[in-house]
Amino acid sequence: MPHIPSQEKRSAIGRLSPARLATSLFTTSFATRPTVAASAPGRVNLLGEHTDYNGGPVLPVAIERRTGIAARAASGWSFVSATEGGVHQLEIDAPMRRAWTDYLVGVVRELRALRAAPPGAEVAVATNLPIGAGLSSSAALTVAAAKALSLLAGKRLSPAALAEVAFRAEYHQVGVRCGRMDQTIAAHGQRGSALLFETAAGTLQAVPLPGRLWILETGVSHRLTGGALNDRRRECEEALAFCREWRPGLAYLSQLTLDDLPEVERRLAPPLVPRVRHVVTETARTRKAAQVLAAGDLVTLGQLLVQGHESLRVDYQSTIPEADLLVASAREHGAYGARLTGAGWGGAVVLLAPPEREARTVAEVGSDFQKRYGRMPATWSTRASRGVRRETLAD
Ligand code: GLA
Repeated sequence: MPHIPSQEKRSAIGRLSPARLATSLFTTSFATRPTVAASAPGRVNLLGEHTDYNGGPVLPVAIERRTGIAARAASGWSFVSATEGGVHQLEIDAPMRRAWTDYLVGVVRELRALRAAPPGAEVAVATNLPIGAGLSSSAALTVAAAKALSLLAGKRLSPAALAEVAFRAEYHQVGVRCGRMDQTIAAHGQRGSALLFETAAGTLQAVPLPGRLWILETGVSHRLTGGALNDRRRECEEALAFCREWRPGLAYLSQLTLDDLPEVERRLAPPLVPRVRHVVTETARTRKAAQVLAAGDLVTLGQLLVQGHESLRVDYQSTIPEADLLVASAREHGAYGARLTGAGWGGAVVLLAPPEREARTVAEVGSDFQKRYGRMPATWSTRASRGVRRETLAD
């Protein structure tokens, strides 16, 4: 049964940090105090969608909303969440349950492989991230859990090691065929900067991002396990195999350039062509976006966001009408640009507008949305925030 928080609890959720909430949930659920707490952020991806599993660049930003974990070593494994309700006592080697706890079980399995897991633990989770809104609540959960549980085992894993544990948990244990963007930004995020992550080379470069980003939630939830992301990834792998027939040695689709596209069109089965076109154009857009952002050129950045959305809509076919409307309306109401962020098929739009009119733009876009769909989208802003951290336990 999903647990619906009361009005009172909802306002408390607004006030307390997720780590504090997790700590108090821990105390009420397990009648003892946690010994460690950690938190990790969600993310908004500025540009570079569906490029990370194609060897291309991504430009994500860690956001201010986070997931907190409080934990204490125990003989078995028990998990409780502020949003889902109920304490779950689980065997780590039992089959996955297709539930949120799978992500934690996956983290424990991967930490065990590194000899960095405690023998057992009681674990409480709280978040102020919307779930299924394309803002990477799963990576916030797995990265925060990897941090808290490895600390319980007396290990200090680097951000890169935490990201890898979290990636492996999601990819190999839960079975979502994701790339490494979400776990990487949740582990390495920096206050005041986006991160240009070249996934093939594994390099990270901070790009200053002053000001605020706006998030407009479509209210259409996507759950990532399996589904459309896995299908698109399969299509990309198929396309890569075909491309290798004329370009032996090609390691990733993102190594193709705009000049290669006519050849791609001649050789590939028609449904695969737009997928490749998206990856190739998005790769170029993302590198350009990092350059113009570094130069403070938000006008060009906004244009690139809109082009990125169009590419997702037409070529990758991962947008939804609700997001298309938000993006079109954002352009009419003076935003630099906007686009659907994250995997797609639901989720949220990221919007960038001149500071002096951003609140008005967002209100006007919200009212266009309401006229069409009869409800206001949830809208909020965030600055670039920092990645995973240990949290001090309140007295
Ligand atoms: C999900 C995946 C990421 C990335 C995006 C699409 O968020 O977890 O690795 O592939 O979709 O850009």
